[in-house]
Amino acid sequence: MEVVILSGNKAIAALAAGAVEALLRRKPAAVLGLATGSSPLPVYDELALRHERAGLDFSRVAAFTLDEYVGLPHGHPESYREVIKREFTERVNIDPANVHCPDGAAADVPDACRAFEDAMRAAGGVDLQLLGVGTDGHIGFNEPGSSLASRTRIKTLIEQTRRDNARFFGSLSKVPHHVVTQGLGTILAARHVILIATGAQKATAVRDLVEGPLAAICPASVLQLHPHATVLVDEAAASSLRLADYYRHSYENKPSWQEL
Ligand code: F6R
Repeated sequence: MEVVILSGNKAIAALAAGAVEALLRRKPAAVLGLATGSSPLPVYDELALRHERAGLDFSRVAAFTLDEYVGLPHGHPESYREVIKREFTERVNIDPANVHCPDGAAADVPDACRAFEDAMRAAGGVDLQLLGVGTDGHIGFNEPGSSLASRTRIKTLIEQTRRDNARFFGSLSKVPHHVVTQGLGTILAARHVILIATGAQKATAVRDLVEGPLAAICPASVLQLHPHATVLVDEAAASSLRLADYYRHSYENKPSWQEL
């Protein structure tokens, strides 16, 4: 796992967008894994800018989102399908038919989860997965206690996560209790994962996922098993890391030929 401590959102966005750009230049028909929530928004802004100003081309890209609320009707402004469209995919030239989201409004949710996994497999798997992390250590909506081998399925949100996300809904009572999410096993199958965490409220989750034991109580710690995981954090999110100086030293002395 590579931990990069950066000055803030701008530097994080530049580095993560640079990794996406390098991938697309190498593999124009790449498969991206997209997170919603606040953490990746500066990256989406930067990618939209690179598309607009430098013609970064997403025309052959396929995308898979991480998760979705159960019970919100299609078209609900806070459904992650709508959020990712608004925040990213409609700002670049991805073919909307190539954007796949777990369907939390399906009549048969388990069947929709299987179809989502099948589509991901048929696309050749995810090349680069962007992730945020919840204050309780969740990735996707894999709450503490999630199976480390899980695939896309329905989960129940912890109250802390509902409270964290109430800001998007205006009131806690409007936040659904259930979600569908890529499993931890699904996320582990991506060829490269980039997790972004900013702010002091993420410091404990970042410490637990990077330096804590591999344990279902911190689902993001499963990334310790991933052969190519990159964690991009600001100083506040890095503030509880024991080996922060070592991560800084490693990054400052990174060989110039080595990409993220
Ligand atoms: C969203 C997702 C979640 C968020 C996490 C952090 O698709 O998968 O795991 O990444 O809840 O959310 P923010 O970035 O809003 O702090």
